[in-house]
Amino acid sequence: MSSSHSGSPQPLSARRGKALSGHVKLPGDKSISHRAMIFGLLSVGETEIAGLLEGEDVIRTVDACRALGATIDRLGEGHWRVSGVGIGGLRSPDHVLDFGNAGTGSRLMMGVVGGHDITATFDGDASLRKRPMRRILDPLVEMGVQVVAQAEGGRCPITIKGAADPLPITYSTPVASAQIKSAILLAGLNSPGRTTVIETEATRDHTEKMLTYFGATLKVTHEGHDGRRIELEGRPELKPRPIMVPRDPSSAAFPLVAALLVDGSDLLLEGVMMNPLRTGLLTTLLEMGASIDIINPRYEGGEDVADLRVRASNLKGVDVPAARAPSMIDEYPILAVAASFATGETRMRGLNELRVKESDRLQAVADGLAEAGVTYAIEGDDLIVQGQSGAVRGGGTVATHLDHRIAMSFLVMGMATDKPMTVDDERVIATSFPSFVGLMRGLGADFFA
Ligand code: S3P
Repeated sequence: MSSSHSGSPQPLSARRGKALSGHVKLPGDKSISHRAMIFGLLSVGETEIAGLLEGEDVIRTVDACRALGATIDRLGEGHWRVSGVGIGGLRSPDHVLDFGNAGTGSRLMMGVVGGHDITATFDGDASLRKRPMRRILDPLVEMGVQVVAQAEGGRCPITIKGAADPLPITYSTPVASAQIKSAILLAGLNSPGRTTVIETEATRDHTEKMLTYFGATLKVTHEGHDGRRIELEGRPELKPRPIMVPRDPSSAAFPLVAALLVDGSDLLLEGVMMNPLRTGLLTTLLEMGASIDIINPRYEGGEDVADLRVRASNLKGVDVPAARAPSMIDEYPILAVAASFATGETRMRGLNELRVKESDRLQAVADGLAEAGVTYAIEGDDLIVQGQSGAVRGGGTVATHLDHRIAMSFLVMGMATDKPMTVDDERVIATSFPSFVGLMRGLGADFFA
């Protein structure tokens, strides 16, 4: 298994510096970038993609799409062309599909392979090898997929033999997960019948939007209070379409919170995706009293986007309801950092899924807060952070556990703490935001090795 994180760890520290200012152009959205490649593979003809996130996770998906038969060219920065083979046209890869750190890439691609009469082995780094995959394999097995080999507990490395004629199923996802939903829909693309996914809480809908955009027949209806029912007619002929990837709100979260915390800061984040299933952090920060102006809202590349003007703010603690979790699932580490500087307590409810992200994020965040001298408690699935009213001690080294968002969150924290904060390895940031360190320095951040 190759790993982009081989070699020695590279610690990086952040200390309080000058006010942040400037215009920020963030990289493309990770979720949409993975899907853009996959839809390129599954349509016959040429799909052009602009604004692709060229992070390590997405490059693993590019490699996997090539191994399954696509011809993929990089035409310029973020500009790619995929010549796809179409639904039913994939070939078995002649090597292990190494997804590195990428949960999304590996899980969505299990769905793709599961819907084809081919065999493939999925593997990844030490973080991916710990992540639960039964949640993907279980519905795929119902569709006729055979799990040929798996590590203990349904973990990578995993070999599956896909189904030539995937059975159309109706599946209620046991946890709110766009990855589970997407894997089933992608397998269902090659099913002779209708595949239905029911989710009790709506999760990011990029797969559904792209299915419709590429010409599949999809019906989405409300289910219960917060849920959705998604019905897909199998065996459409997907037509290649140009894709413009909007800028990633989950990456925007880092300079955004940094600007809130560093005195005197004033930043403009340009063209950030505002899909309502991704804006939970924004809602929460506004409730906390953050000065964020949503400017020039518009529709670009099939998504709502807007510019965000962010100014340093005194935040107050809030109660974040569990129902908001799907719309900000990747943003809790950076919210915990923001909450540390607030006045009063912030309670974040219903964080059980954080335990199975790139790291056990609940524990990794808690350990980082402890290093920084912030008082917190974990009560069941809730994280409670006692805000320090702007004065956080800092100091200490945070273990990143191969988790890009832990690394970025605690570097942002160090930009406003009394003593610098160090993260034990910055290399993993490249999975989702390769330009993070340079971009933050360009805005005024004082990072040092
Ligand atoms: C993603 C879904 C979420 C999220 C991940 C990206 C996606 O995972 O945490 O970073 O692109 O579908 P879950 O489906 O496990 O909630």
